[in-house]
Amino acid sequence: MKNKKTIVNSWNEWDPLKHVIVGRADGCCIPPAEPAMAPKIPEESDMKGKFGPRPQDTIDKANFQLDNFASILTKRGIKVDRPKPINFNQKIGTPDWDIDTMFGCMPPRDVILTLGSEMLEATMSFRSRWFEYLCYRPILEKFFEEDPKMIWSSAPKPRLTDESYRDNYLSDNITLDQRYEWVRDKKFITTEKEPLFDAADVLRMGKDLFIQHGFTTNLKGIEWIKRHFSNHRIHILNFPGDPFPTHIDATFTPLKPGIMLNNPERRLPEEQKKIFYNNDWKIVDAAKPAHNQPPPLCYSSVWLSMNVLMIDPNTVCVESSEVYQMDQLDKLGFEVVPVPFRDAYPFGGALHCATTDVYREGKCEDYFPNQ
Ligand code: ALA
Repeated sequence: MKNKKTIVNSWNEWDPLKHVIVGRADGCCIPPAEPAMAPKIPEESDMKGKFGPRPQDTIDKANFQLDNFASILTKRGIKVDRPKPINFNQKIGTPDWDIDTMFGCMPPRDVILTLGSEMLEATMSFRSRWFEYLCYRPILEKFFEEDPKMIWSSAPKPRLTDESYRDNYLSDNITLDQRYEWVRDKKFITTEKEPLFDAADVLRMGKDLFIQHGFTTNLKGIEWIKRHFSNHRIHILNFPGDPFPTHIDATFTPLKPGIMLNNPERRLPEEQKKIFYNNDWKIVDAAKPAHNQPPPLCYSSVWLSMNVLMIDPNTVCVESSEVYQMDQLDKLGFEVVPVPFRDAYPFGGALHCATTDVYREGKCEDYFPNQ
């Protein structure tokens, strides 16, 4: 493919994809316990109490699948850029705190929110991920130089002092039932001390942005996004069936205008479904995952099965062992592109997590005229 100059433009999750960032697994660490992290690691997780660099053979396997995914996209005419990993196995700190290691740069979706010609660095809500934006700076600098219309912005860096986290939310101290109750009551690990959001809690659907309020995004973070993207309508979503509500993309996934996949264990409350039904959207239960367990040392749930990447409104990349999800999408009329990716899951998620849009064709449209 000819090396064309960059255009930054992406308004939704499904228009034809022309340029994307795919993460890397190099040097990824399991960060030490920190207030934001503890509740996210389920009681039975093999990661409890562990931290430090991940084994090199697992990094190599993940990178093999990430490179293969990048090559599948390139062969389809999609330009791919990659972040530049830094040394994640080092102590970092601010005047308020320090932590022994960072995380990695496999899931760009968590860090960078592209909307129209803007690429916005999220605040993030984990201390170990405070400096992750640095891995994306080389490509953001390049995009800024190559696209005179690119808007490059960064949300206010959070302090992340202990006041940003609720006391006594550690997984050792509470039962799963208690956690469900707290999530139902919208009592999450993050407090409302300061605006916090991870980019992966935001679904971009033209004029409307749907944002999960949960562990990684608080109401102040959503308010910040609302004031920042003031030409957009902001909708706050909750998924009370998720005991660890972190990032929306294994819970609620737009496929194309008119159709959403919803995790059947984390259904959107009836009240919040109205905007979809009022605008003739269907909400379909996602197929069950093919696996009973996530792979070893993985933060995410088996529902990464529905963490798919649309490369146009008719074509979807799905993890190749997720046979039920592939079958469902095939029956819904999509061309399914199988992508082996399970070795990359522990590094930060599946195909949607591992990417961030730079350019999708298309404009900002109104898919929800009946508000
Ligand atoms: N937090 C999401 C899940 O694991 C990615 O289901």
